[in-house]
Amino acid sequence: MESKIKPAGNVSMNVSGKDVEFGVYSGTHGPNVVDISKFYKDTGLFTLDPGFTSTASCESQITFIDGDEGILLYRGYPIDQLAENSDFIEVAYLLLDGELPSENQYQQFKHDITYHTMVHEQFKNFLSGFRRDAHPMAIMCGAVGALSAFYHDSTDINDPEQRRIATHRMIAKMPTIAAMAYKYSVGQAFVSPRNDLGYTENFMQMCFQVSAEDYEVNRVLADALDKIFILHMDHEQNASTSTVRLAGSSNANPFACIAAGIACLWGPSHGGANEAALNMLAEIGSVDRIPEYVAKAKDKSDPFRLMGFGHRVYKNYDPRAKVMQQACHEVLDALQIKNEPLLDIALELEKIALEDEYFVEKKLYPNIDFYSGITLRALGFPTDMFTVLFALARTVGWIAQWSEMIEDPNQRIGRPRQIYTGAPQRDFINRNQR
Ligand code: SDX
Repeated sequence: MESKIKPAGNVSMNVSGKDVEFGVYSGTHGPNVVDISKFYKDTGLFTLDPGFTSTASCESQITFIDGDEGILLYRGYPIDQLAENSDFIEVAYLLLDGELPSENQYQQFKHDITYHTMVHEQFKNFLSGFRRDAHPMAIMCGAVGALSAFYHDSTDINDPEQRRIATHRMIAKMPTIAAMAYKYSVGQAFVSPRNDLGYTENFMQMCFQVSAEDYEVNRVLADALDKIFILHMDHEQNASTSTVRLAGSSNANPFACIAAGIACLWGPSHGGANEAALNMLAEIGSVDRIPEYVAKAKDKSDPFRLMGFGHRVYKNYDPRAKVMQQACHEVLDALQIKNEPLLDIALELEKIALEDEYFVEKKLYPNIDFYSGITLRALGFPTDMFTVLFALARTVGWIAQWSEMIEDPNQRIGRPRQIYTGAPQRDFINRNQR
């Protein structure tokens, strides 16, 4: 990646009577940055920023979020335009390459991905070592990490050709492994990928095909799921992407890095929120119990939070949530589901929360996870598969960000410092003298 940051002046500060200057740089969109890479060397001080609320970890040209305006761009294209007009394969190409593909480039990339969807036969035995009641995300953490044991010929991160193959294998095999995790958890036989189907419809047939009868992919549902995957593909330096970058900074192989990202995404504060949000709506159970739960969410002494609400960056409506709500209505209409109590609760909860002073003052809006659970359940997926679907889509962003980091000439191993407040230095005392 060629750096495109531009000098934008300096800032200076007085540290212990000494004036110190730091360079300010600007990017395409978003706040300028102060380069503090020499801050400790020049001042003898560390900076402290738990949760990295004010810290940029890297330069990136992939995704941009304006949290105040509720804007999300993939390589400069607004997310709603991509969700409306593009498809998974084309957006994956865009995130990896930086430009939308020509027809030939699209067809070649689609072919490359399609012909990497199968997994090694021995992989099925590996995955069958899990208990049948294992959470599918637990299976995904282990199975994706194990890919480096099966595809050792594409783990040399210094070889651009091996990085290309590993990238295609990762994107291509995630649906196959995700479908295997689902089939394994419901006690059904694994279904092989088919080369005559598109990416998302192939995933759906691997999940829902049973040998006892033919399976016909519903195009409306496949298009809705494809749109949902696009919404989840990338999101700047979120927790799981930062995990992938930190793991990759040690030159670990890409399969291990993606497995680390999956583990981080599983947390209910992050990708696990879609599963938690649906469980929350089910727990609320009826519209008349919403005020009770809104009060719990506002009560500092109560750990309960409205899952699917709030965001570190969005202090406006998450643009993905709007598209997700629309996809939710499309799926329910296509399935002729007229009465979905959880959707009624979600719509009323959103209305009440957005009028409540607490949520208004803290700028808490529905995020992508608020409506996704209702949609995914209507598509036929069990709740414990929701974060697996998030990981399937986010794999594109993770591998694009990993590639960008590996190709960044300024890339170094990530090694944060700390402020130490533990015991002062002291000498050891033998146990018989304590
Ligand atoms: C994702 O980073 C990404 O981009 C993530 C993601 C992606 O695509 O990768 O967008 C995907 O992870 C979406 C978020 C999914 N998580 C949830 O929906 C879980 C519920 N949300 C919260 O846990 C919370 O909003 C976070 C974790 C999402 C953000 O936490 P922050 O930025 O650290 O904010 P905070 O916890 O400091 O909250 C600020 C205030 C606090 O009150 P005060 O201490 O200031 O009084 O808002 C309150 C919080 O108590 N608050 C909530 C709330 N979220 C924040 N109160 C009630 N319900 C909530 N959901």
